[in-house]
Amino acid sequence: MNTAAAAPQARAARVRLRPTMQSDLDFVLSLERDPDNLPYITPWERIQHEAAIRFPDFRHFIIETGEGLEAGGFLIFVGCRNQHLSVELKRMVVRDKNQGFGRAALRVAKKIAFDDLGAHRFWLDIKKRNLRAKGLYDSEGFVFEGELREAVKVEGGYDSLVVMSMLQEEFASRRSRAMELQG
Ligand SMILES: CC(C)(COP(=O)(O)OP(=O)(O)OC[C@H]1O[C@@H](n2cnc3c(N)ncnc32)[C@H](O)[C@@H]1OP(=O)(O)O)[C@@H](O)C(=O)NCCC(=O)NCCS
Repeated sequence: MNTAAAAPQARAARVRLRPTMQSDLDFVLSLERDPDNLPYITPWERIQHEAAIRFPDFRHFIIETGEGLEAGGFLIFVGCRNQHLSVELKRMVVRDKNQGFGRAALRVAKKIAFDDLGAHRFWLDIKKRNLRAKGLYDSEGFVFEGELREAVKVEGGYDSLVVMSMLQEEFASRRSRAMELQG
């Protein structure tokens, strides 16, 4: 599933996704524990990532970025064998932020979810305080579904989880308008 992001209006950021290997997990764990990322995610233990690499219901990818296509992030799908065809983007983390890598990776992720995994619904949740991610998912066509109020403990109190999704027909409509990577 090596796909370079190339939708017409995509920024020039170059990314490629490849399956995560055991040898990538030090990188993945260090990214999760980076103070820049910790406010927005709940880090997993190594064993959870190992399971996500192996279990068929999960897909765990390294996001390769830049000219050298070096490891620059990771993303995880959950529910890839889900009988309702409802696939979750469990987590996406990019090391070098605000350079377009997250947007480019998200476009490849949508293509994988709908084209390869046959998703009917592709969904995610994010902490309400995560304005950067919210802005990204909004601008990539994800629809706000609702909020799980004060669902997660954060420093100084609780934060809500914002649930967002895209349906297959919405993806197809965006693709017909050249807003998504082509099949
Ligand atoms: C969320 C994340 C994956 C996005 O990746 P990225 O490479 O930084 O994102 P991009 O550069 O592709 O795009 C980010 C967009 O958000 C916008 N943005 C940045 N800060 C913002 C803010 N405070 N409010 C609203 N939008 C914001 C940027 O302007 C950009 O939009 P643009 O393309 O129109 O300029 C990355 O920042 C990250 O790893 N964050 C920490 C982990 C995380 O929050 N993951 C998501 C939940 S699991």
